[in-house]
Amino acid sequence: MQKLIIKGGNRLSGDIRVQGAKNAVLPILAASVMCCGETVLKNCPRLSDTYSALRILNFLGCSAGFDICITDVINIKADGLDRFDIPDSLMREMRSSIFFMGALLGKTGQCRICFPGGCDIGSRPIDIHLAALRKMGIIINEANGGIECTGKPHGAKIALSFPSVGATENIILAAVLADGTTEITNPAREPEITALAEFLNKCGADIKGAGGGHIIINGVSSLHGCEYEIIPDRIAAATYLACTAAAGGEITLCKCIPYHLDAVTAVLEQMNCLIHSTSDKIFFSARKPLKAVNIVRTMVYPGFPTDCQAFIMAALCTARGTSIFAENIFENRYQHTGGFQRMGADIRVEGRVAVVEGVKHLYGAKTDAPDLRGGAGLVAAALSADGISEISNIHYIDRGYEAIEKTLSSIGADIKRVNSDGR
Ligand code: EPZ
Repeated sequence: MQKLIIKGGNRLSGDIRVQGAKNAVLPILAASVMCCGETVLKNCPRLSDTYSALRILNFLGCSAGFDICITDVINIKADGLDRFDIPDSLMREMRSSIFFMGALLGKTGQCRICFPGGCDIGSRPIDIHLAALRKMGIIINEANGGIECTGKPHGAKIALSFPSVGATENIILAAVLADGTTEITNPAREPEITALAEFLNKCGADIKGAGGGHIIINGVSSLHGCEYEIIPDRIAAATYLACTAAAGGEITLCKCIPYHLDAVTAVLEQMNCLIHSTSDKIFFSARKPLKAVNIVRTMVYPGFPTDCQAFIMAALCTARGTSIFAENIFENRYQHTGGFQRMGADIRVEGRVAVVEGVKHLYGAKTDAPDLRGGAGLVAAALSADGISEISNIHYIDRGYEAIEKTLSSIGADIKRVNSDGR
């Protein structure tokens, strides 16, 4: 197992090209099983979750992999699809394996999977997914942790009790080749939903209203491949802003979509940071001391993203004053606070509320990444700490960040990746 060694205190400065979005490429990779001919995806991030999705595609009989010449391109040919079951070992590698349920049902009318994996940030049920698919005529048998689905989806009117990102994406995947029209009310509005719809429409689907409060999908008879560029990762972009806020300095984010992270930059401005955006860049400067934020409420898009809670909290650990967090999306998303406390942070957690009293300094400590974004929060905290920190379990971080140590080193951080024996 590897770990990160971080010597805090360096101001950060320089340019970062934002990676392609993990939460966009994963549902699009699942969607590609429905496409006849070749699909070419550009700006794909090299993440462990991306490789997990490629392993599933190849297990199903597709030919899928990173291009041997162009490092961020994935080529997929799904015409060889010859099975609809996914082994537990592959399903459990990530949450996003669940998207293959909608895609396989859309393409073959069958799928045999188990409950997906993913970060331990809550119980993460899939009841909303299953209820929607049953409304689309799918017979679903759940037994011993396995899920067996049969039936070609038909159009349906579906109202979501909660605007679940994954459920919205699974319904879209099952609906694009369904018989008839599917309407989704109260869908998730995240940019990754819009990206999935754009990709599918480029492949010949008929989806209207993605990103809004009402999505209409008219089923078509087939989908062809296409060439599509994955949108920039708004959460990775926010991560590097939070790292700079924590450590101090000024950076420029290139190849990002600033409005995708408006709710996060609004909080950073409240923290006394300076932000200027153009169409695809964010110029960011942290002004110390940071100011506390009265309350940060995590919400569905376009509200403050739950995925940004941990690393914004990291920056607020040394802000002047008291900040309160309300984690309204996941019931177990404060596991990173233990690591912050080991670094000297003053944080009290009560259920879904965390109260952060700013302290003058954090100190380097040995910590373990509890999950993907909690791990990123520990990195941000370590960059601001006096002394050396060690972060273990960084396989969680590698699920969502392309070589995080190289990106941060490029803007002046003293960070390196070592094997657990220190070499
Ligand atoms: C997606 O997860 C993202 N993952 C998460 O990012 C993100 O935190 C989350 O959306 C919220 O924005 C991917 O896109 C791969 P949800 P997802 O369904 O689809 C409850 C990261 O760090 N719920 O919107 O699992 C659920 O328990 C990851 O990149 C049900 O109750 O999120 C949670 O409390 C972490 N029943 C809430 O809804 C269901 O059937 C939001 O879940 C589905 C969800």
